[in-house]
Amino acid sequence: MAGNNRAIEEIKSAANIVDVIGRVVPLKRAGSNYKGCCPFHNEKTASFVVSESKQIFTCFGCEATGDVIEFTKRYYNLDFKEAIEKLGKEYGIDVEFKSGGNAEKNKLLYEINREVAAFFMRALYVPGNPGYKYISGRGLKPETLKAFGIGYADEEWHSLRDHMRKKGYDDKTLISLGLLSQKNGNVYDKYRNRIIFPIINTSGKVIGFGGRIIGDGEPKYLNSDESPIFQKKNNLYALNLSRKFAGEQDCAILVEGYMDVVSLYQSGVKNVAASLGTALTENQARLLKRYTKNVVLSYDADNAGRKAALRGIEILHKEDCNVKVLHVSDGKDPDEFVKKNGPEAFRKEVASALNYAEYRLEDVKRTFPPGNDENRLKYMKAAADVIKSLSPVEQDIYIKKVAGEQGISEGALRREVEQSAQEPTVKNYGPKKIPQKAKRDDNITVIERQLIKILTVEPSTYKEIAKRKHVFASSSGANIFNALYSRLSGSFGSEILDVKALADGLSSEDAEILKSIIENEPVAGNVEKILHQCFDTIACKDLERRRNELTARLDMIDNTDSSADEKAREIIEEIMFLNEEISKLKTHF
Ligand code: CTP
Ligand code: MN
Repeated sequence: MAGNNRAIEEIKSAANIVDVIGRVVPLKRAGSNYKGCCPFHNEKTASFVVSESKQIFTCFGCEATGDVIEFTKRYYNLDFKEAIEKLGKEYGIDVEFKSGGNAEKNKLLYEINREVAAFFMRALYVPGNPGYKYISGRGLKPETLKAFGIGYADEEWHSLRDHMRKKGYDDKTLISLGLLSQKNGNVYDKYRNRIIFPIINTSGKVIGFGGRIIGDGEPKYLNSDESPIFQKKNNLYALNLSRKFAGEQDCAILVEGYMDVVSLYQSGVKNVAASLGTALTENQARLLKRYTKNVVLSYDADNAGRKAALRGIEILHKEDCNVKVLHVSDGKDPDEFVKKNGPEAFRKEVASALNYAEYRLEDVKRTFPPGNDENRLKYMKAAADVIKSLSPVEQDIYIKKVAGEQGISEGALRREVEQSAQEPTVKNYGPKKIPQKAKRDDNITVIERQLIKILTVEPSTYKEIAKRKHVFASSSGANIFNALYSRLSGSFGSEILDVKALADGLSSEDAEILKSIIENEPVAGNVEKILHQCFDTIACKDLERRRNELTARLDMIDNTDSSADEKAREIIEEIMFLNEEISKLKTHF
C-alpha cells in the first residue's frame, strides 16, 4: 500500500489509539499502558492492553494485536481502505489515495517544528527579553506558558535561521514550513518580535505556529503556511490539552483566538479550543465531535464574530452536535471577559448561551427589527425559514414561541413554514445517506502482479496461490485474484483462461490493470522460480510481521502481573524460533 503512506501516516499521527479504542472499550490506566476487556473475545479479566507510546493494542488472551488501523478494521469489520477512510473522516484528514510516500519527509517536518518550538521557548526565558514582559503583562503565569509551550521570537533577523543551520537543517525545508523567508537570495526569520503559540495536534506533534506581534503592528498574528503536516482546516488550537476536559465535562467551548484559549484555560475553564482564526470547518467539527457533541461557540460580539458564529452553528448542527452560542456580555472577547470577571461569571455566560434555533431566530430579529409592518413580514418569512430547518418537535415549539411574541396566529406562521420555499439548510431528517463506496486503491504490489501473471500463464498454480491470498491486499489485486480464482476453481485449474471474458467481469480500472500485468509482467520461462521467490517472500514477511507483534507484546507485559515472567519466556522462545526461520528463508533470496 505504498502509495497511501501519506494518509496512513497522517492518520496514525492524528488518531491516538487510546482515544480510538477508549471510545468503545472502557480502558483503565495500568502503568504506562491502558488495560481493558478484549472486544475480540469473551473475557471477564482484562487482558487487552493498549500502549499509548507504541500506538498498538495487544490481547494476551486471544493474541489479537495491531495498530489503530488494524483495530478499526477488526472492531468495525471494515477492510483496510474503509478503516482508513473512517479514521480519515473522523480526524479530518483528506484520504485521497494518491501516490508518493511522504512518511519520511513528514517525520523530518515534525522534527523541525519540535526543534523550532523548543528554540522559541528557550528564548522566552532569556532574562529581560521583551516577550516575557509582554506576555506576563497580559496575565499569563509561568505554568500556563509551559503548558502551552509558548515562546518568543526575538527582533533579530537570523536567530532561528542560524540556530537551525547549526543543527544541520536545510533552509529550504524551513522556508517550506513558513518559518524562514527568502528575498533576493537573502534568507531570514519570518517570525520576529512575536509571541509564539505552537499548534500541537492531539498526538502531541507540533504542526505549526501562530505568532502574535509584541505590541501594535501588522499583521497582528502570523500563522504557519499550510504544509503537508499542517492544514488549518483540520486542526483546532489547544485540543491536545483540552480534549481531556471536553470529554470529561462533555462540553467544549470554541473561541476565536489563541489568547482566548490560553486565558480561559488558565482561569480553570479548560475545555476550550480555537478554530485557528478561520471560520469553523466541517473537519474541525468532526474532530471535536470525537470528544463531545456539546459545543458552545464563544466568538467575539463584532460583526465578524457573529458571522463566524452563524456559519459555525450551521456546520456543527449538520454534524449532529448540540451547539450553543454566546457573545460575552462584557469586554470584547472571552480573554478580556474572564480576566475581568473570572471563570464563574464565564460559566454563567455559557449556561445561558443560546441554542441553534434561538440564536438563529435572534439573528433574524437583529436583521429585521420588527418595529414596522414591512420588517415584521420579512422577519416572519426569515423566521419561517429558520423554523423549517428544525426537527418537527422543535418546529412546534418555535412556531408557538415566535407567534406568541409577534402576536400573530400560530396557523399563519405554520403555513408560512410549510410554504417556505427554501430547502432546509440543515440536517436532513430523512433516511441517512448511504455512505459512498470506498475509493479505489490501485497500489497493487509487485508480488500481487507477479502472482496474477503466473495464474494467467500457469492456472494449475491456483490452489497454492490461494493459500496465500492474504497477499492480495490492494483492492484491484483482490478483485482480480477473486475473479481468477472463481474461474479456475470452477474448472480445477484446467481451463485455458479466456482473458477477455475475465476482463469483462471486472471494472474498467481493474481490467486495465489486468491488461498491463498480462502485457508487461515478465515471468516467461521462469514461472517456477518466480513463484517460489514470491512464496518465500510472503512467508518471510508473515514471519517478520509475527515477530514484530511479539516484540511489541513483550514490551507490553504488565510487570506487576504474577504470570509476567512466564508470559515473557513463552514470547521470547517464539521470537527465537522465528529468527531462525527468517534467516533460513533469507538464504534463499
Ligand atoms: N487572527 C489571525 N490573523 C490575524 C488576526 C487574527 O490569524 N491577522 C486569528 C488569530 O487566531 C487570533 C484570532 O484570529 O487569535 C482572533 O483575532 P483577534 O480577535 O484580532 O485577536 P485576539 O485573539 O483578540 O488577540 P489579542 O487578544 O492578542 O489582541
Ligand atoms: Mn483579544
